[in-house]
Amino acid sequence: MKPHWQTWAEELKQEFPRAHSALLPLLHRIQTEEGWLSPETLADVATLLDLPVTTVESVASFYTLFYKRPVGRRVIHVCVGLPCALKGADALMHRLEAHLGIRQGQTTPDGAVSLFEAECLAACDLAPVAQVNLRYRGPVPPEAFEALLKEDE
Ligand code: FES
Repeated sequence: MKPHWQTWAEELKQEFPRAHSALLPLLHRIQTEEGWLSPETLADVATLLDLPVTTVESVASFYTLFYKRPVGRRVIHVCVGLPCALKGADALMHRLEAHLGIRQGQTTPDGAVSLFEAECLAACDLAPVAQVNLRYRGPVPPEAFEALLKEDE
């Protein structure tokens, strides 16, 4: 059975003169729909865009916001860049890990939360900074970690 997003790929191929140009918007759209990019999905994308699968895999791997395995319904990124580190990012991460019972890079067994480190999120004036499903939160002092788990998106 063909992937349901094949129509998007065909539309993007018409919109962009080069298949490479359609790759990022297509991967983004698929991830928004499916939550992550499986190896099978990447292979299908390569076929649909007439690109080498290694090209598609390398692009998906380069951008850390493309998930190569399933993630939780709430994805938390904690910035560990220097300004955030100086303002307690490590303690924030440790509190989240202890509370959730997972390490950074993991997802809770119930699929509720995934926790990731991030390099500078370009909001240093809000340090320490986190993102919840890509929405900025900051400053988030370590003792306020539970707010990241309760806030609406
Ligand atoms: S170092 Fe955290 S936002 Fe820049």
